[in-house]
Amino acid sequence: MIVALTGAGISAEVGIPTFRGKGGLWNKEDPKELATLSAFLKDPVKVWKWYDWRRSLIKEKHPSEAHHLLARKKIPVITQNVDGLHQRAGSEQVVELHGNLWRVRCLNCSYKGWNYDTPLKEVPPKCPECGGLLRPDVVWFGEPLPEEAIRESLELLNYCSLLLVIGTSGSVYPASQLPYYAKERGAKLVEINPEETPLSPLMDLKIRKGATEGLKEFFSSYEL
Ligand code: OAD
Repeated sequence: MIVALTGAGISAEVGIPTFRGKGGLWNKEDPKELATLSAFLKDPVKVWKWYDWRRSLIKEKHPSEAHHLLARKKIPVITQNVDGLHQRAGSEQVVELHGNLWRVRCLNCSYKGWNYDTPLKEVPPKCPECGGLLRPDVVWFGEPLPEEAIRESLELLNYCSLLLVIGTSGSVYPASQLPYYAKERGAKLVEINPEETPLSPLMDLKIRKGATEGLKEFFSSYEL
């Protein structure tokens, strides 16, 4: 079974900025000021404004050809992306390691729900059930990944014979460990990324191209 592990690079092709590298969000912004619980508690308006901007940007984009290719081939996806583009492309099996920026949850009660407003009607948004502060249901630095996402990822990797590692810098733990896990269980690893990454030495094949061109090359060269 083929499985894909994706990162921001697969969405970069439709104009959604990556975090690192050329044009990366973390070159301009300090992740500690925007992607941690303490930053959110200190200034929820600032953090929500940044998410509002990203949500608005993402809403007007469409999935890339690479997203569509993975969906058409019915390849299960483990993604670090929170943009929901794999689902919009029609992928049925998507494990979201870092949550989803269209989902919100309350810091005060157990409310969790979807919110697609762009721009948000109020900043910061309030819980419809208790009036508490809502946060984006994404994983911030210092927070654990959702247990279910880890379990589902490991289950997929237990059966995976080939892992396509697409558009990730492989620099964020623990997602960056998944290729090691797959390799230990005998999977072949293929990296599709225009740049070298810390995961590159692990790879059986490296395709130094963007996600769409790289996937096309992969599917045309290998009988699947
Ligand atoms: P990064 O921004 O760290 O890395 C993006 C990768 O995509 C780089 O290795 C680029 O070389 C590559 N890339 C750029 N254009 C590409 C293209 N057209 N096709 C294929 N690859 C391309 O993104 P992630 O590895 O996803 O976490 O970052 C991991 C996590 O760090 C994110 O999920 C986010 C961030 O902080 C949280 O928000 C918790």
